[in-house]
Amino acid sequence: MDILCPVCHSKLSRTQNVYSCQNRHSFDIAKEGYLNLNMRNSQKTGDNPDMIRARKRFLEKGYYSFLREEVNDLLDEKESLVDLACGEGYYTSYFKCQDKIGIDLSKSAMKIASKADKSTRYLLSSIFRLPLEDKSADKVITIFAPIAKQEIFRILKDDGSFILVKPDVRHLFELKAAVYEKPYLNEVENIEIEGLKLVNEIAISQKEKVAKEDLMDLFMMTPYYNTTSQNDKDKLKEIEELEISFCFLIDIYQKAA
Ligand SMILES: C[S@@+](CC[C@H](N)C(=O)[O-])C[C@H]1O[C@@H](n2cnc3c(N)ncnc32)[C@H](O)[C@@H]1O
Repeated sequence: MDILCPVCHSKLSRTQNVYSCQNRHSFDIAKEGYLNLNMRNSQKTGDNPDMIRARKRFLEKGYYSFLREEVNDLLDEKESLVDLACGEGYYTSYFKCQDKIGIDLSKSAMKIASKADKSTRYLLSSIFRLPLEDKSADKVITIFAPIAKQEIFRILKDDGSFILVKPDVRHLFELKAAVYEKPYLNEVENIEIEGLKLVNEIAISQKEKVAKEDLMDLFMMTPYYNTTSQNDKDKLKEIEELEISFCFLIDIYQKAA
């Protein structure tokens, strides 16, 4: 897959540690290996370093490895893959496709991902303005992240597919029960994407015992971490080990003919 200049949208080509286009816009490859294509006037920064470190520590323990395996089984080595909002590359690095691009807006995530994984080109960019050509990707993946619907449709080949991983109804229920007086089930909605058709939904789940030192890291990965009081968060510190349900939905979309 070709990478496009974020300024003039012509193709970028690489010479040593610099990517440049025919209009002489150039972008340095960072020492860790990622390419910074984020426009300077962009205010958004993605997840902060504390969130990234917590997620990295938690994922490295292997609690979500069954999800990674299941998604990898849906891929083909010969296909091109774009992982949108890929974080620190826990999933991207593992995927078997030969031509892989991982994109995220967090600099700390891109540093970690590109330092550890040389099988993927990592781009610091918003997923809502992708530096990629129309109809260039066989597979696009989004795992627990914002969904850039129009860009996904634009970059997918006509026979390409989009894989979306999202939490199922009981995902993390026991964690919520440990923190909140009235834990609630997740609401699951089918995401509609213009031009794409949902063709399959795979539900996978596993219960795992999460160790004391991993509970706060897991909680930091959730969207409710920032809206929970310190008192409630502190309840997790009293728990030695907690058996938690990890329940995921893997939605597969195809371009509608
Ligand atoms: C919950 S994390 C999921 C990361 C990864 N997919 C995973 O499951 O490990 C969401 C990610 O989306 C990224 N993100 C949020 N908004 C973004 C945007 N507009 N463009 C690119 N990345 C974005 C964050 O930096 C963060 O890494």
